[in-house]
Amino acid sequence: MKKVYIKTYGCQMNFYDSEKIKALLIKNGYKIVESPEESDIIAVNTCCVRKHAEDRALSFLSSYKHLKKQGKVFCLLGCIASLYKEDIYKKHNFIDIVCSPDNYNQLHKILQIPGKEKICHTEENKNPFISEGIISDSHISSFVSITKGCENFCSYCVVPFTRGKLISKQPEVIHREIEHLVETGVREVVLLGQNVNEYGKDIGETFTELLKKIHNIKGLVRIGFLTSHPKDIQDSLIILFKDLPKLYRHLHLPLQSGSDRILGQMNRRYTISQYVEIIDKVRKVAPDIAITSDIIVGFPSETEDDFQKTLQTIKDIKFDDLFVFKYSPRPLTSASWIEDDVPEGEKERRHRTILEAQEEISIKRNQGLIGTTDNVFVLKPADKKSGYMLGKSSTNKPVMFRSSHSTPGTFEQVTFSSADRRYLYGCSVSGHKEV
Ligand code: SAH
Ligand code: SF4
Ligand code: F3S
Repeated sequence: MKKVYIKTYGCQMNFYDSEKIKALLIKNGYKIVESPEESDIIAVNTCCVRKHAEDRALSFLSSYKHLKKQGKVFCLLGCIASLYKEDIYKKHNFIDIVCSPDNYNQLHKILQIPGKEKICHTEENKNPFISEGIISDSHISSFVSITKGCENFCSYCVVPFTRGKLISKQPEVIHREIEHLVETGVREVVLLGQNVNEYGKDIGETFTELLKKIHNIKGLVRIGFLTSHPKDIQDSLIILFKDLPKLYRHLHLPLQSGSDRILGQMNRRYTISQYVEIIDKVRKVAPDIAITSDIIVGFPSETEDDFQKTLQTIKDIKFDDLFVFKYSPRPLTSASWIEDDVPEGEKERRHRTILEAQEEISIKRNQGLIGTTDNVFVLKPADKKSGYMLGKSSTNKPVMFRSSHSTPGTFEQVTFSSADRRYLYGCSVSGHKEV
C-alpha cells in the first residue's frame, strides 16, 4: 500500500480538492499519512495567485529534496502545475510528477506509474470533477465546489490560466454530494466557485435555483458561499438573504479598488457607483448582513489619488472585514505587460493604511452587536479559551461563548457582551435549539 502525504496551500478550492484527492486515493488502495517522512509520495497542492504564495509552496517541496535518496516520489499539484507545466522541471529537477486540477480524477493511476521518467498531466478535461465523496471524520462543516475555472480574465489574475474554462457541476451531483456529507455528520456547507454567480451558465442552470434546492436538504442547517463578482450579482440572489433562513447573512464581494480608472484597467466591468448600489440593495434586504471584500493596492499606475479613492470608499461602505493584497505581477496576465511601477515601500504603506482604517471599522461594527442575541451555530470547543465554545453568528462571524453543554452542529442562543476585530464574545442564554 503506497503512502501519500499531501500539503495544501492556497484558497478554499485547493483545500476542498485535497480532501477529494484523499478520498480518491484511499478508495484506490493508497494510505494518507501525516508527515513527509513516513510517505512514499510527497505531494504539494500549490497556489500561485501571488508570487509569495508560489515561493512558499515550492520552497516547502524543496525543503524535502534530501528525502529523494530514500526513493520518495515528488508530486506537484495545483495551480503552479497548470501554470508552468513541464517547464517546472527546468528549475526543480527533483520533481517527478506534475498534475493540474483538470487531471486529479486520474491521479490514482498517474501515481502508480513506476520508473524514472517524469510525468506531466496538464491537459484540459471536460469532466474534471472527482466523484468520490469526501471522507468527513465527523466534521461539522465542509466546502463543496460547484464550478471549476473562470473566464473573466481580470487583468491581474492568473486563475483563468490555471483553472481553465468555467465548468459547472450538475445540480443533482451537488445535491447528492451534500446529502452524503449530511449523512456523515456535516451540518454546514460552503459552496465554492471563483464566481458563484456564473454557476450554471454552461448547463442552463442558475445559482439562485441551486441555492433554493440545496436549502431543502434535511439535516443541513447552514449554507455559505464564496465568491461573488459584482458584475453578475442579481436581485434574485439578494432577496434570498431574506427568504432562505439557512443562508448566512454574509456576502463576500471583492471590490479590488475604489478608483473607476483602476477598475477599468483591472477589467472588472463595474464602476464604484454600481458597486455601492449593490451594497445599498443588499443592506435594504438584510440590514444586519456582514459584507466582506478584497482590495489590491499598488496595481500598475495606481496614483495617490486613486489610492485615496479606495481608502475613502472603504470608510464610506464600512465593510465587516477586508482582505488586502499588494499587487503581484503574474505570468500570462494582461497586467503583467504593464510596468509594475508602484514601489514596494509605497505598496506597503498603502497596504498598512487600508488595514489600519479597516481595523477601526471592523471593531466598531463588531462592537455594535454588543447586547444583541443571535442564533449561533456551534462548531467546537475553543482551543484558546477553556470553558468556551467556538461558533458562528448568523452573519458568519466567529463567536466565542461560555457554555458547558453545547453540542457541535446545533444552535445556541448567545448574547454578545464584548467584541474585538475578529471575534464576538458572549454567553449562552438557552439550551440547544435545533433547526
Ligand atoms: N475568484 C475570486 C478570488 C480570486 S483570488 C474573485 O474573483 O474574487 C483572491 C483575491 O486575490 C482576489 O480577489 C484579489 O484581491 C487577489 N489577487 C488576485 N490576483 C492578484 C495579484 N496578481 N496580486 C495581488 N492580489 C491578487
Ligand atoms: Fe480571477 Fe477575476 Fe476570475 Fe476572480 S473573477 S478568479 S479575480 S479572473
Ligand atoms: Fe491560488 Fe489557484 Fe486558488 S492560484 S487562490 S490556489 S485558484
